[in-house]
Amino acid sequence: TPPAQIRNFCIIAHIDHGKSTLADRMLQITGVVEARQMRAQYLDRMDIERERGITIKSQAVRIPWEQDGQTYCLNMIDTPGHVDFTYEVSRSLAACEGAVLLVDAAQGIEAQTLANLYLAMENNLTIIPVLNKIDLPAAQPEKYAEEIARLIGCEPEDVLQVSGKTGAGVEELIDEIVAKLPPPVGDPDAPARAMIFDSVYDNYRGVVTYVRVVDGDLNPREKIVMMSTRATHELLEIGVSSPEMHPSKGLGVGEVGYLITGVKDVRQSKVGDTVTNAGKPADTAIGGYKDPNPMVFSGLYPLDGSDYPTLRDALDKLKLNDAALVYEPETSVALGFGFRCGFLGLLHLEIVRERLEREFNLDLISTQPNVVYEVTMDDGSEIIVTNPSEFPYGKVSEVREPVVKATILAPSEFIGAIMELCQSKRGQLGGMDYLSEDRVELRYTLPLAEIVFGFFDQLKSKTRGYASLDYQESGDQVADLVKVDILLQGEAVDAFSAVVHKDRAYAYGNMMAGKLKELIPRQQFEVPIQAAIGARIIARETIRAIRKDVLAKCYGGDISRKRKLLEKQKEGKKRMKNIGTVEVPQEAFIAALSSD
Ligand code: GTP
Repeated sequence: TPPAQIRNFCIIAHIDHGKSTLADRMLQITGVVEARQMRAQYLDRMDIERERGITIKSQAVRIPWEQDGQTYCLNMIDTPGHVDFTYEVSRSLAACEGAVLLVDAAQGIEAQTLANLYLAMENNLTIIPVLNKIDLPAAQPEKYAEEIARLIGCEPEDVLQVSGKTGAGVEELIDEIVAKLPPPVGDPDAPARAMIFDSVYDNYRGVVTYVRVVDGDLNPREKIVMMSTRATHELLEIGVSSPEMHPSKGLGVGEVGYLITGVKDVRQSKVGDTVTNAGKPADTAIGGYKDPNPMVFSGLYPLDGSDYPTLRDALDKLKLNDAALVYEPETSVALGFGFRCGFLGLLHLEIVRERLEREFNLDLISTQPNVVYEVTMDDGSEIIVTNPSEFPYGKVSEVREPVVKATILAPSEFIGAIMELCQSKRGQLGGMDYLSEDRVELRYTLPLAEIVFGFFDQLKSKTRGYASLDYQESGDQVADLVKVDILLQGEAVDAFSAVVHKDRAYAYGNMMAGKLKELIPRQQFEVPIQAAIGARIIARETIRAIRKDVLAKCYGGDISRKRKLLEKQKEGKKRMKNIGTVEVPQEAFIAALSSD
């Protein structure tokens, strides 16, 4: 297809604002997918995505469209919809000339959408503003059209009104995409350059790589080079998805499609990388490539130690499909053998954990998530800490922690509550804007560690669920951080060590000591629970000795009953872990590690 007849676009929307429904409706109206073949939500492939209603992996669909006797080829590129996947979103946007800004007409714009809208504007994309779900009785198109108009600088009348559900306005939207978006530009005679915006592992075909061609062309059987690694592959197949994969004779300037080279690991086909022709390579890669950078770490351990090999195999398999997942074996006194895993963020962690439990039938216990700390020691040496129990004590000259730029949208009545919360989380206000009379956007710089510790839940509860949050990593800052260890009878329980701000150390120590006192059963001897910073004890609780009580209950009673009780006690011990001489039931660890 000549570039003049190509339009590449994506849909920016908040979760639940109806992106999948609208995309499906477009496929149906354009005849790409017959109505009766239509699986609900064609574009969301993974089960978990469908169940949780989130889109993780982006994909492209080619859509034909006739307008004024001219046949156009529209490529709809699906963008992931969550904070953890900002980089993937940015690459999807970079593959497009325009974006449909889709907003629920009963809800208005949300923080996530706003953040992605800014990203699209930075990429110079043409924005087509659309209100969706206008069939809803609760829709307030006038109010929200005004909000959107103010944000992107257009007239409220320019905001289209559609319903993905009924199909109203959808044809007009497609016409608008053709009319408003510029066609792609590129040099057809230059060496080939194509940007990878997605890469998906398929059990049968190996890695399927989605690309947008910028210059030149790519053809079957050619040798290609990945410019970030210089690795060479043969193009076994090249084609377009609509939405099933159809092999084609090649892809030219502005076209969007997939490549198959037979590689088995998405790490060999990285999002953001540039593909060129090995025989006639381009000099410079397309800008913006970044290696995925794990931001949040957690230890994952099998509940049953004998599942360790299964966990290892499962992680190896997931990795094929997930370039951002990193892990290495680790052992914990408290939890046994497991892995320290790195994730893009909390949702990514949850998804991986859920897939491990569901697809591989594993029961797992995970440690409290933590961020990565950079520590400069007095002698100038640098340590990267991904496990709080390895945080050094003493001789530390500087600690740096990652910070994020957060955008919070909420009804203006909650400004006070939000500011108070952010302040208590060491946040710094960057700015505040009114979207309309009663809705406000707050911008904060916050330590990522504070977000990881239940920030979103607290924000929701302080705003009765009305606030929405988005954040992007934004470098790091020096902070006064210390490691708090939790000791049982003088022995540190590694899984409970945490790196916290100095002002928060006592609170954390007291909280954990109190929690453990409730959770750990009494032993034959007294067990002190202490919280410590280095050698300094900052909190203490005591579990009193008890064993006598068990037998005391059946004083005078018959001996067999006594034996039974002891027998039972023994059974319980099978699932016990020993911390020094203290026996701790596994349940206590699980309960203590689950968030407060
Ligand atoms: P994610 O895949 O989670 O990002 O959500 P999404 O934005 O793709 O939303 P989805 O298409 O799954 O729609 C979310 C909910 O809104 C579903 O219950 C849809 O049935 C409903 N919905 C979508 N479009 C419309 C619409 O035009 N009108 C009405 N009344 N409901 C709609």
